Amino acid sequence: MLNPKPMPIMIPDVQLQTLNTLAIPARAACLARVDAVEKLAAVLSWLRQQRKLGVSQPLLVLGGGSNLVLSSSWPGLVLQMAIPGIEVVAENDEHVWLKVGAGESWHGLVEHCMKFHYWGLENLALIPGSVGAAPIQNIGAYGVELKDYFAELGAIEVESGLDVTFDKDACHFGYRDSVFKQALRDRYIITSVTFRLRKTPRVVCEYPALRDFFSERDIQHPSPQQVFKAVCAIRSSKLPSPGQLPNAGSFFKNPLVSAEQFESLQRQHEGLVGYSQADGQVKLAAGWLIDRAGWRGYRQGAVGVHEQQALVLVNPGQGTGRELLALAKLIQDDVKARYGVELEIEPRVY
Ligand code: EPU
Repeated sequence: MLNPKPMPIMIPDVQLQTLNTLAIPARAACLARVDAVEKLAAVLSWLRQQRKLGVSQPLLVLGGGSNLVLSSSWPGLVLQMAIPGIEVVAENDEHVWLKVGAGESWHGLVEHCMKFHYWGLENLALIPGSVGAAPIQNIGAYGVELKDYFAELGAIEVESGLDVTFDKDACHFGYRDSVFKQALRDRYIITSVTFRLRKTPRVVCEYPALRDFFSERDIQHPSPQQVFKAVCAIRSSKLPSPGQLPNAGSFFKNPLVSAEQFESLQRQHEGLVGYSQADGQVKLAAGWLIDRAGWRGYRQGAVGVHEQQALVLVNPGQGTGRELLALAKLIQDDVKARYGVELEIEPRVY
């Protein structure tokens, strides 16, 4: 007789407050911690059987819980992805291919790479969350995006339970975007990500905050370790640690506008910050727009806007997802009225 697939333990009626970095109190009907691909396959197969019996369970996949807003309790199953592992799967003179389990912590991976001198991810230090969630929004910071060092990812199709590999083209990476936020939203569960990292460093430090950091200290040619430390220092000074002040990083994307719109806005708003893109568009600093509109440090009941960085909404008073989304809507409406610019919410809303 074949061995039955190992099912993870299902825990009924779970509080998710400690499992999302915004610390939103929301309950889930059921939670299962998945620490092996086989267990994931077993749960998905069980869900398909349930559906055949007429019981449909909505599925929510949680990584580090650092990029989602829970707007109400979850009526179905939450899968907490905890698949471990960091393994060299190939190498040549220039590169090393590192396959990483979806449940590994992102910053833990960056530290591992620093230790073993696999270069490329140093600008992405201290980003909260898990490796499996990172490709979904193509995480980025200080001039580097995940896609720059991405090779492929492994995923399971929810509907069929089939293992699938996605190469870079198939992921349709964009600014804080991928196919997993668009056409394939909630259709695949990422189980591993393979990165192609450099054996010889190529330091990226043109991003203004990083450039200023090194010029203030008179460092001409920083090493990747120095970039890693600088990014950690800059992030810690601006972005609240979720453990101390619940947040989900940038709550809005930086909006893209045409060069003409940027010039016109610049004439009306002195000091407007924007970054020219390769396609001629300009990416506006949403934090600047929100800050100059007077929202930085604003508090509305349990929720508010961070004192040091207006792009970050915080939840010091255990507010609900609805309270946060109501504040976000006020900010979006105000920014639209003042600058004619639409702000898009960056974390995924459930
Ligand atoms: N600014 C203000 N007031 C504020 C916030 C920002 O005037 O309250 C100005 C800053 O002075 C600066 C400009 O706006 O001139 C941009 O600010 P910053 O360099 O802090 O970066 P950001 O645009 O706010 C983006 C990413 C961050 C990433 C940093 C560094 C998005 C949505 N956010 O923030 O990503 O760490 O650049 O690359 O693209 C995240 O996604 O969660 C995240 C934190």
